[in-house]
Amino acid sequence: MDQKKRLDQAQIKWRDMCDCSLRNQCTQAVFGEGNAEADIVFIGEAPGKNEDIQGRPFIGAAGKFLSEMLAIIGLKREDVYITNIVKYRPPENRDPVPEEIEACSLWLYEELSIIDPKLIVMLGRHALEHFVPGKKISEAHGKTFRLIFNGRERSFFALYHPAAALYNGGMRQTLIEDFKKISKVISKMEK
Ligand code: URA
Repeated sequence: MDQKKRLDQAQIKWRDMCDCSLRNQCTQAVFGEGNAEADIVFIGEAPGKNEDIQGRPFIGAAGKFLSEMLAIIGLKREDVYITNIVKYRPPENRDPVPEEIEACSLWLYEELSIIDPKLIVMLGRHALEHFVPGKKISEAHGKTFRLIFNGRERSFFALYHPAAALYNGGMRQTLIEDFKKISKVISKMEK
């Protein structure tokens, strides 16, 4: 079965099976979206208000900024895969708690194992903390980490979250500069 079909089936399965307590407090689950055979997967934090209403990840202001940065490195949203560590909007956009991240993580792992990307980009401190516990985003941004995940060594890359950097001039510029490194990181590696 091709990756797109496997991903569609996994989304349907996890929509029914995920036991995250946020599930009953939001409008709907927000699936990952994009190319099921992507070289790059971006992992954000959790859906916000717009994402919760429309059921699509990164479609608000942070998503627009993400699309602009993708364009800078010659990519479109459809070329990559964009998802979140938590699939349901936390009330009032509060930070997700460890139990919610844990509950949604099996869903995320299945997405990653089906897509099997070359590079996993962690957007912000929650995604970073999940894969590289104890590391600060202020130290990790713009860096690659080789981590054992799903039985083999893989490349992870840390970035500031676009929502955090959006209205912070210095952080915004740093994020854009870090983002540009993605093409170099990709071109150096084997799948
Ligand atoms: N922020 C996220 O982390 N994910 C979204 O989908 C939107 C904003």
